[in-house]
Amino acid sequence: MPDQAPRAGLSAAILLAAGAGVRTGHETPKQVRTLAGKPVVAHALDALRAHPGVGPVALVVMPGSEDAMRSLLGHRAESLAIVAGGSSRRLSVLAGLEALARSEPGAAHVLVHDSARPLLPVAVIDRLLKALVDGARCVVPVLPVVDTLVRSGGDEAGQVVDRSTLARVQTPQGFDFAALMAAHQHWSGPEPTDDAQMLRRAGIDVALVPGDSALEKITGPGDHERMERILTVGMSTRVGMGFDVHRLMEGEDLWLCGVQVPHSHGLSGHSDADVAIHALVDAMLGALAEGDIGSHFPPSDPQWKGAASDRFLAFACDRVLARGGQIEHVDVTIICEAPKIGPHRGTMRARLAEIMMLQEARISVKATTTERLGLTGRGEGIAAQAVVTLRLPDDDAEAAS
Ligand code: CTP
Ligand code: MG
Repeated sequence: MPDQAPRAGLSAAILLAAGAGVRTGHETPKQVRTLAGKPVVAHALDALRAHPGVGPVALVVMPGSEDAMRSLLGHRAESLAIVAGGSSRRLSVLAGLEALARSEPGAAHVLVHDSARPLLPVAVIDRLLKALVDGARCVVPVLPVVDTLVRSGGDEAGQVVDRSTLARVQTPQGFDFAALMAAHQHWSGPEPTDDAQMLRRAGIDVALVPGDSALEKITGPGDHERMERILTVGMSTRVGMGFDVHRLMEGEDLWLCGVQVPHSHGLSGHSDADVAIHALVDAMLGALAEGDIGSHFPPSDPQWKGAASDRFLAFACDRVLARGGQIEHVDVTIICEAPKIGPHRGTMRARLAEIMMLQEARISVKATTTERLGLTGRGEGIAAQAVVTLRLPDDDAEAAS
């Protein structure tokens, strides 16, 4: 899990998920429907939390749905502020601001994002945070208007409007925290459709940065299904494999798949020597073509001495998110004569699901022996193999480089 403790220089974030989604025509609010294997709201939440420049996140939900959201998000809800929203988008933002204002130390900047825009590119967050660090007090991502625009009614119906001076505004929008709070506290007038217009009304300049077509909002009927197609069409499948061996020794704890297994011997190594997680991390890094576990967590670095391997796995999962990818499936094979893995398989799958924020149905843990042959057969060590299937965006710039 990304560290949620506020750190200096980080931006806080408000993720709005308190709307009813009336215009979709669907009985379930759009933010809690499942999109490409996870709730809509989890997409932007993961993107925000995976970004190193984003600190505390306040998730704003319909009043009374806090517990339901917590159970929907499962482990994603850990160390996440879930707050009740209001009857309008504006009041929901204010609820988020008030929750963040209570977190210590306060953040200088805040991003406000609609969960109904699930596909949140890292590059857009980068552009917003850069503008804020460079001194902007209000910054919004925009897209050019590409269609011809006309007046839709009245005496001027059909008359062309000059589109060259217009742009379409998206979220997330970035703000100086105090300026946004002041604009909200002093607002009077019709309900605004975004926050930047409130700052503009308060006399604050609105900086523009390029938006992204991926950020289209789920609004009307069919938008959800269209987004589902975008998510599956523009992705290619990557497979990674990993292998690892650690020596069995007396007096060591035995950790496998993040679970401590009672046994006469344990595995020795620089970290907790969880051979199964190490193979899995290497498989993930292999699918990402991002080196191996040793290149990210060198055994020569004292900070990894005795480290719990779940943080290596959480790191690899964060890398998948940062690349805009999804984990499809993982398959781990533990190779040993003893202990018996069968009785622990369920706990191991549950623990991996927890660390990876993945459904258990997508996680396989198997075990085999080598018929008393070789190093595992003689009980000198335990080996593990893993295969991971990921989906990464076709236009993944890092993969292309
Ligand atoms: N939102 C909110 N609180 C409200 C209204 C809206 O947090 N009282 C959030 C929505 O959850 C959404 C974002 O603001 O993520 C943008 O709003 P919109 O697209 O209008 O969503 P809904 O209000 O849910 O949809 P509709 O207007 O069709 O009911
Ligand atoms: Mg609305």
